[in-house]
Amino acid sequence: MSATVSTTAETTTEATAPAAAATTASAATTAPTGPRPTTGRASLRQRLRRVAEAAVTPLELDDVLDVFHPLRKGADLRAKVVAVQPETAQSATIVLKPGRDWAGHVPGQYLRVGVDVDGVRLWRTYSLTHGPRADGCISITVKAIPDGVVSNHLVHHLTPGQMIHLGQADGDFVLPDPLPAKLLMVTAGSGITPVIGMLRNMFSRATPVRADIVLLHSALSRSEVIFGDELRQYAAEGRLRLVELHTDRDGMLDVADPATGLAALVPDLAERTTYACGPVGLLDALEAHHGEAGLPLHIERFRTAVVATGEGGTLSFTGPTGGGTVVEADGATTILDAAESAGVLMPSGCRMGVCFGCVLPLREGAVRDLRNGELTVAQPGDGVNIQTCISAAAGPCEITH
Ligand SMILES: Cc1cc2nc3c(=O)[nH]c(=O)nc-3n(C[C@H](O)[C@H](O)[C@H](O)COP(=O)(O)OP(=O)(O)OC[C@H]3O[C@@H](n4cnc5c(N)ncnc54)[C@H](O)[C@@H]3O)c2cc1C
Ligand code: FES
Repeated sequence: MSATVSTTAETTTEATAPAAAATTASAATTAPTGPRPTTGRASLRQRLRRVAEAAVTPLELDDVLDVFHPLRKGADLRAKVVAVQPETAQSATIVLKPGRDWAGHVPGQYLRVGVDVDGVRLWRTYSLTHGPRADGCISITVKAIPDGVVSNHLVHHLTPGQMIHLGQADGDFVLPDPLPAKLLMVTAGSGITPVIGMLRNMFSRATPVRADIVLLHSALSRSEVIFGDELRQYAAEGRLRLVELHTDRDGMLDVADPATGLAALVPDLAERTTYACGPVGLLDALEAHHGEAGLPLHIERFRTAVVATGEGGTLSFTGPTGGGTVVEADGATTILDAAESAGVLMPSGCRMGVCFGCVLPLREGAVRDLRNGELTVAQPGDGVNIQTCISAAAGPCEITH
């Protein structure tokens, strides 16, 4: 396999600025300012609120405020779409003005996004792709996948001025403080998104970081490389060494191959701390490779690696939302996917076992954790909760929803 090596950076092992200092600086650009004095003012505010409530009765004041001031402090966290900027044919960066309760983020973290598609609120998770921004906006970059409900909606149908729902930033795929002297970023496809946030943050500091960074990025073709021009510019400026692989020309990266794999592309691999994000196959191969070699590796997964399937079962949704829906589910399909396919409105978030946004009570029955095969069994009254996004039916199940 051949690789395009855009440039070799003039490198140094000195990590001059601590990562956390920069990430705090980044968070500070988006974090709300500190608490204001409330005595006196608060009571005036309360009195004004009572007057306003009386004026809009029988409507709820918050509902009225949502129409005129949806991004206000204390409202459900939302964001206004400021811009949708195409990156490649199937991906776009969405710039958002978040509500005043947005608490900021550390580069590498993700947030949950909720959009209404065909009248159904669907939540998905996206990495924050920006560095420090003076305008208080945030950004995500989404790649539309075939048949992907939310990703296609975001990339192809979202328009400036629309409102979307948000969760606060979360996740531990962030750079440490102090930075390792030598970093290797391994990304593929949309897996570049958390890493571009880190890079933009490092490169926009007043005192730029002079860490020794290698970025190994793989995409279908040159035109499919998200942020391609920006990454090549970083390489040209000597900020990093970019190893760009195009699978239409180079084939898939075989991580462990001594002739064309990681060791060949990054000769000083053993001295580097690796941060990786990409498809399941790449991350599994990296885990195996680095585990065997005893090398430090941090990964961000966009999808759960399903390792254990079994017999499925009948799912019954009892409760006001499920309305008695009964679904036949196989043992490899998550309860979340099976229920949504049957039209049940389900709570969800990351869809990979991280955020606990999908938890529902399992009243009775057995489910299997698709990540490890572990069975959870419940009898009425046990009070067992399950994550529907990583659990599959393992026999008849009744879920209260
Ligand atoms: C922590 C985290 C960060 C993420 N950051 C980003 C990001 O920055 N940019 C981005 O584009 N996406 C990101 N994702 C993935 C994103 O959350 C959605 O999974 C993705 O957009 C697909 O959602 P969808 O509704 O379009 O697809 P769905 O309608 O849910 O699924 C459609 C089909 O595609 C399959 N599928 C679902 N997800 C993927 C996937 N990731 N890759 C391949 N096939 C899939 C499903 O099994 C199904 O067959 C992230 C996920 C996580 C957990
Ligand atoms: S949706 Fe995040 S844990 Fe299930």
